[in-house]
Formats: sequence, C-alpha cells, structure tokens
Amino acid sequence: MNISKELETALNEQIGIEFSASQSYLSMAAYFERKAFDGFAQWMHLQSSEEHQHAMKFYQYLNDRGGVARLPAIEAPRWEYGSVREVFEASLEQEHSVTENIYRLYKLAQDESDFATVSFLKWFVDEQVEEEKSVSDMIDKLKMAEGNPDSLLFLDRYAMERKSEEPA
Ligand SMILES: [Fe+2]
Ligand SMILES: [Fe+2]
Repeated sequence: MNISKELETALNEQIGIEFSASQSYLSMAAYFERKAFDGFAQWMHLQSSEEHQHAMKFYQYLNDRGGVARLPAIEAPRWEYGSVREVFEASLEQEHSVTENIYRLYKLAQDESDFATVSFLKWFVDEQVEEEKSVSDMIDKLKMAEGNPDSLLFLDRYAMERKSEEPA
C-alpha cells in the first residue's frame, strides 16, 4: 500500500528538518574547532552524522513506500555563539522542536491508520528521548562548570569519549 500524499509531504518536510539539524550541528562543530574545544567539536560531528542518518532513514522509508523523495531547501544555520553552554542550549531547543515534529507525524500516521508509518516512527520517538537527555545532561554539567576553566576543559575531554551510535 502506497503512502498517502499528505504523509508523503510531511515525511519530505522531516527529511529537510533532519538535514537542517545535521547542518546546524556541523556549524556548531566548526564553532568549537575555532575555539580549540576538540571534544565538544567531536561530539557535534557525531551528532551531525547521526542527523544525516536520520534524514536517510526517512528518505529510504519514503522510497520503500512508493513515495517521492523531494529534498527541500535548507536554510543556512547559525554559526556564531557566545559560549559553550549557549551552543548546547541551542541544541536542546532544536531537539525539542524536532520532537514536536515527530509527534505531529506520529499523530498524522495514526489518524490515517497507516500502521507501517506508526511503527517506523516509533524508533524516532525513542531516539528523541535519548537525544534530549544527553543534551540536557551536558547542560547540567556545564552549569556546574560555570566560571571554572579547568572543569570546562575536563568536560571537553569527557565529550571526546562519546561514541557514535550503532546504525539502527
Ligand atoms: Fe534526528
Ligand atoms: Fe537529534
């Protein structure tokens, strides 16, 4: 059974949202590289490539369901920030808005009784919980490190230890 036109449009929008998140994380990585925060830069590179994989999951799913993948235009991301914490706060805000979009998609798929799409989206619902948690944990740690360069450098090293997720 092919996907409905409405879901096709919504899934294409989501492809754009994931690619734009990927671009935005790459831009955050570049900011950290400029500031010689190698660990935070590496964290953002991993995040950027995960978002790329998310976009590709939607792309593949659309194709598998007989939809047309139309890649939407992406706005240039922000490239300047005031502090490490500001970057992670922007990241959390971005994740919240992605979560809202995933929920909207889920609701649409449910309303259409498109259970294959509901099942496909389930992974993203769980993924968003993980992503929001890892970013807000980092913000909590950054708050503790406020005003203390040693702690900030320690967190930079800690961020370096983050491993990329298994491709699901
Ligand atoms: Fe994502
Ligand atoms: Fe994300």
